[in-house]
Amino acid sequence: MTAGAIARRTAEAPIGAASSEGWRGSSKKTAIAKVPAASVPVGGMAKSSDPKTGEVIYVLQPKAGQYHAISSICPHAQCGVNPPQDGQFVCPCHNSRFNAATGELLQGPATKGLARYGIQRVGKDLLISDKETT
Ligand code: FES
Repeated sequence: MTAGAIARRTAEAPIGAASSEGWRGSSKKTAIAKVPAASVPVGGMAKSSDPKTGEVIYVLQPKAGQYHAISSICPHAQCGVNPPQDGQFVCPCHNSRFNAATGELLQGPATKGLARYGIQRVGKDLLISDKETT
């Protein structure tokens, strides 16, 4: 599927509070947003937002069962990146480019990739937790 197709399949997902139940591992995480897994098709994405900052979070499923929650804020000078197209997020301010599946940096002037949020599938929902990287 092309990134253009990904952009066309974008859906605005509802946001809601979720408990920390269902998180695995030793570190306890608190969900900040909830997205129905069915709203994120394989090769597609949905949009959510961080309730603390209002920033858009892109929720992606590049492969079946593999989910990523990526910040829309460019780490160079905090512009909002455009929705993915042709496999990349492009920042409209100074043209930094990021991998559309993972948020990894492809081209500067940014010196690091887009921040990632924690994400965990619990039943029919994807629970998003605070940023893991900045
Ligand atoms: S703010 Fe994104 S490249 Fe400068």
